[in-house]
Amino acid sequence: RTRTRANTCLFNNNGESAATAAAPRSEIDRRRNLAIISHPDSGKTTMTEKLLLYGGALQQAGAVRQKAEQRATQSDFMEMEKERGISISSTVMNFDYEGFRLNILDTPGHQDFSEDTYRALAAADNAIMLLDAAKGLEPQTRKLFEVCRMRGLPLFTFCNKMDRPSLSPYELMDQIQEEFDLESFPILWPIGDGDRFKGVLDRLEDVVHLYQKPAKRGAKAEVIEVPLSETDRLEELIDDAELFEKLLEDRELLDELIEPLDMERVLDGEQTPLFFGSAMTNFGVQLFLDKFLKMGTKPTSRPAISGDKKEESTEQPVSPEHEEFTGFIFKTQANLDPRHRDRLAYVRVVSGVYEKGMKVGHSRSKAGKKYNLAQAQALFGSDRSTVELAYPGDVIGINNPGSFAIGDTLFTGAERVAFPGIPSFSPEKFAYIRSPNPSDYKSFRKGIDQLLAEGAVQALRQRNDDGGGPLMLAAVGQLQFEVVQARLENEYKVESQMEPLGYTLARWADGGWDAVDKADADGKLFGIMIVQDRWGRPVLLFRNDWKAASLTEEEKDLQLKPWSQPP
Ligand code: G4P
Repeated sequence: RTRTRANTCLFNNNGESAATAAAPRSEIDRRRNLAIISHPDSGKTTMTEKLLLYGGALQQAGAVRQKAEQRATQSDFMEMEKERGISISSTVMNFDYEGFRLNILDTPGHQDFSEDTYRALAAADNAIMLLDAAKGLEPQTRKLFEVCRMRGLPLFTFCNKMDRPSLSPYELMDQIQEEFDLESFPILWPIGDGDRFKGVLDRLEDVVHLYQKPAKRGAKAEVIEVPLSETDRLEELIDDAELFEKLLEDRELLDELIEPLDMERVLDGEQTPLFFGSAMTNFGVQLFLDKFLKMGTKPTSRPAISGDKKEESTEQPVSPEHEEFTGFIFKTQANLDPRHRDRLAYVRVVSGVYEKGMKVGHSRSKAGKKYNLAQAQALFGSDRSTVELAYPGDVIGINNPGSFAIGDTLFTGAERVAFPGIPSFSPEKFAYIRSPNPSDYKSFRKGIDQLLAEGAVQALRQRNDDGGGPLMLAAVGQLQFEVVQARLENEYKVESQMEPLGYTLARWADGGWDAVDKADADGKLFGIMIVQDRWGRPVLLFRNDWKAASLTEEEKDLQLKPWSQPP
């Protein structure tokens, strides 16, 4: 094989991409890309921070939270990043640990921005479900779990806050089984909870890890490791006869009751490796990280359509080892720095090697048109401007010339490649938006179009509207609307008025307009608003979940779906 190696220059003297190369297998194998899903307040920020601490990417606990709270100015931000040698951008955090490269895709904590979380999950290979052990499954966990399941992501579950009075671990396992039809395989099993939380049993190694509460908040916990076989020593160290008995009992019971760990089933979403610990006091966190790195999926193949002409295109997964660069955009952001009208697109690399300055094709541009990725923003390392190379599983921020939108594919190679678009999920808030000053209309439209391209909100129109009618915005949470209005005002200098609508749920009717018309003629759509999405497809708006559920059940021809896949 004479193909250029990834780590040598891929450019000829004209600075044009001379050849592309497959990513070295070692780089693919060491990458773990993950997103944390949780209900607000379960400890996601604390957990993320602890993971970064173990990776040596942070020296000080509290840094991630500080960042989130201050939303510091751009330059402070970069200063912090330089100091710590990592990127704490709100999109991806990455660090090296024990030879692995971890990419943690950030998912906004506030549920009003769950649309962003859905998209981050499109770019993730693994999901970690973080639960508050006192509360178990909560509404936001349920919602996000559905997205993980739809995406077929392997799910690791961490029950956090065991240093507080918690539900019984069996109860938590039951909840996961009953609600998600997901079997748990406990890997770390807790010894006590609340003030009596002593540590965890590592069921894969049969070793008990006993922790000493750190003297200083945020410091690493002192840990003593004792093999389960050393019963006398263990009993003495646990120093609580009841807990010691319970540990031995639990262990036996679990061995009897629980199906063996089967990574195939984890990958198929039938089984979840289960961990218990406390992010705040560091109990079980490093162990969890070690296990996750070994068990988590490395970047995998993704389904795609290749070919320039529709009739000749083929459906074929793109493997990370594929010799051309491919990646897709899962997030765009404009005006990060108010002094410049800069626009960024975040690309998840799927195959090949990204090299600074490379030229790529774009799935929605005409064949042969190339974009230069010279202006790539480094989200890696301490210096923003030095992303020279990126490999499958990585995320890079590139300059968006304005043509890139969420779901688009970028590729090298002669043939067009397109990954499936990123689905939108049911909005729950609906409102008409208009500009009160007719003279502002042009700026208003421009702002709205930009915000729609970013996916800040979704847009819907009345059924027979060909573009001139009132514009309806749809969002998962009210805050999204507020952000739209604030950004229109700050970035586009236009006022806007919103008129809320009393609907709470949308369903896409995959059965098409004929099915909708038929159901309507039969009087089944009373009280339901019929609108179209940006591709002219029928969407039904409901006032309550119950009506949506019963119509989905009774009118099968409508094929109602809580999400839509771009055509
Ligand atoms: P989030 O990002 O999921 O919203 O959660 P975050 O990490 O901000 O944690 C929410 C609260 O729970 C914080 O308390 C945090 O300290 C606490 N917490 C996180 N992990 C643990 C844990 O393992 N045990 C216990 N006992 N508490 C935990 P707060 O009062 O909101 O903030 P702070 O004043 O403690 O910083």
